[in-house]
Amino acid sequence: MLADKDRIFTNVYGFQPWNLDAALKRGDWDDTKGLMARGQDAIIEEIKASGLRGRGGAGFPTGMKWSFMPKESKDGRPNFLVINADESEPGSCKDREIIRHDPHKLIEGALIAGFAMRARAAYIYIRGEFIREAETLFAAVAEAYDKGLLGKNAAKSGYDFDVFVHRGAGAYICGEETAMLESLEGKKGQPRLKPPFPAGAGLYGCPTTVNNVESIAVVPTILRRGAAWFKGFGNEGNAGTKLFQLSGHVNTPCVVEESMSIPFRELIEKHGGGIRGGWDNLLAVIPGGSSVPLVPAAQIMDAPMDFDGLKALGSGLGTAAVIVMDKSTDIVRAISRISYFYKHESCGQCTPCREGTGWMWRVMERLREGDADISEIDMLHEVTKQVEGHTICALGDAAAWPIQGLIRHFRPEIERRIAEKNGGYLAPMMEAAE
Ligand SMILES: Cc1cc2nc3c(=O)[nH]c(=O)nc-3n(C[C@H](O)[C@H](O)[C@H](O)COP(=O)(O)O)c2cc1C
Ligand code: SF4
Repeated sequence: MLADKDRIFTNVYGFQPWNLDAALKRGDWDDTKGLMARGQDAIIEEIKASGLRGRGGAGFPTGMKWSFMPKESKDGRPNFLVINADESEPGSCKDREIIRHDPHKLIEGALIAGFAMRARAAYIYIRGEFIREAETLFAAVAEAYDKGLLGKNAAKSGYDFDVFVHRGAGAYICGEETAMLESLEGKKGQPRLKPPFPAGAGLYGCPTTVNNVESIAVVPTILRRGAAWFKGFGNEGNAGTKLFQLSGHVNTPCVVEESMSIPFRELIEKHGGGIRGGWDNLLAVIPGGSSVPLVPAAQIMDAPMDFDGLKALGSGLGTAAVIVMDKSTDIVRAISRISYFYKHESCGQCTPCREGTGWMWRVMERLREGDADISEIDMLHEVTKQVEGHTICALGDAAAWPIQGLIRHFRPEIERRIAEKNGGYLAPMMEAAE
């Protein structure tokens, strides 16, 4: 179990106040100027060496992403950092805890990361529903300005840096980085075609990096304690500590910081109080937020909870939102509900996603009742393959993968329902009609 001394987020449960005085006691803003004095390239190198991978879902190496930003402007365009606090992936609830209980970790991280990328400012895009969290964030940013930690000569570093907080209006798609840029610019939040990538032309056409809240909030601690310390946690290629979010049929749902690669069973035993009804009652787990495929109980028990370990099981770490389902779960219904979510949140730009998400959900609803032809299982799978990888953004993939996971692991259950509905007969309807 991660020792308390190795926790980055020491106020994740809000036992202490979030404000600047309390944050200073926790060690935030301690000689930020000295950290920045190491120089922009040295900071990027340290983050690269730490092995930090983006905490927003895809796990892209953070230091490498930062290095794509231009080091000097040839045409006067400034660089920007955009911090993704949209957190709308079902099951995910970690960025919210950082913002409401430890906002100065994020704000200090914004200054240091923004400085390293030569950004003129950071925009924190916060999910519309996070009303109290946004109030806290606004107040924390105001405190930082009051104390000279932001603005001109931020933290006496000689660097000028602003942080703007922007509230979203509750659209999941605005969490996709280019939709977020559109939304920040005051337009409808619809993803952009890439290229150009944000590092070339992002916010207002200027070089931009979009990073998740957790990715940015861990930066000051990594610099203070060193890349080697951070890299000391987790398996090769999966460094660091991580905020896991345990929900569903565990006895004590919680958000907890743990070492990356902790085995699933240990994570649930130590922090989730075990599975409701005992381990034999575990059915399946969605390990990384609603968009990743589920993993059946037998496969996940001893799996390392990290990017590569879960990828090897045909799933993913995503946001590390671990949704646990026991045997009381109607698994087809659960995945159908997720399909409805993606149908609802599709921005409608691409035909495969706009039409496919609705189509897939309608078939899922029939499969739930067994009111389908057996051949429709393969047809549905085929449609998910037509959506996956054929859209502007990854929402199409996110809609396809949960269904693929269901069919891969629970086909007999879908077939059972169809057979039950058809009086025990499993052959395709057409054949049955002959
Ligand atoms: C439909 C969709 C929704 C997303 N929602 C979020 C989100 O709420 N928060 C987030 O950090 N990343 C989200 N992402 C990922 C972002 O596009 C982006 O990859 C991420 O913010 C990069 O941060 P990182 O490199 O620090 O992980 C979403 C992606 C897609 C396709
Ligand atoms: S994949 Fe879906 S959400 Fe993404 S741009 Fe296309 S229609 Fe919009």
